[in-house]
Amino acid sequence: MLTLLGCGDDKDAAVADTGPCAEAPVLTWDNFGAGFITQECQSCHGSGVVNRQGAPEDVHFDSKEEVWARVDRVLERAGGDEPTMPPFGGVVEDDRERLTLWLTCAEPGT
Ligand code: HEC
Repeated sequence: MLTLLGCGDDKDAAVADTGPCAEAPVLTWDNFGAGFITQECQSCHGSGVVNRQGAPEDVHFDSKEEVWARVDRVLERAGGDEPTMPPFGGVVEDDRERLTLWLTCAEPGT
């Protein structure tokens, strides 16, 4: 289990040398995000998906730019204690924590 230590709750701590992010593994699009988004989100949110299963036409996650452009919504819907994406769940807890670490601790856009 990864320990978040409130990383997602405290943006100031996230950038401090001694904050929870200082001890977190360095996660980025390249070493985590791309695989996670492809596996957990692309089946409905890829731009080329024919059957989007109700996912909004304009909410694509094909690239890190598209994820970071909606970072607050991605954290709200797929991170935290009560995630609502994907709609049918199934994401392992460690990966949810990694998603939160990535999007709160990484340099934005990476
Ligand atoms: C099985 C299909 C499916 C999968 C997989 C899926 N979504 Fe969605 N997504 C939807 C549907 C349907 C909606 C529109 C209804 C809603 O907002 O609940 C939506 C809407 C959204 C929205 C826009 C609405 C908002 O709250 O801003 C975001 C952001 C989002 N999803 C993020 C994600 C993320 C991140 C993942 C992967 C962890 C993901 N979704 C996986 C079906 C899916």
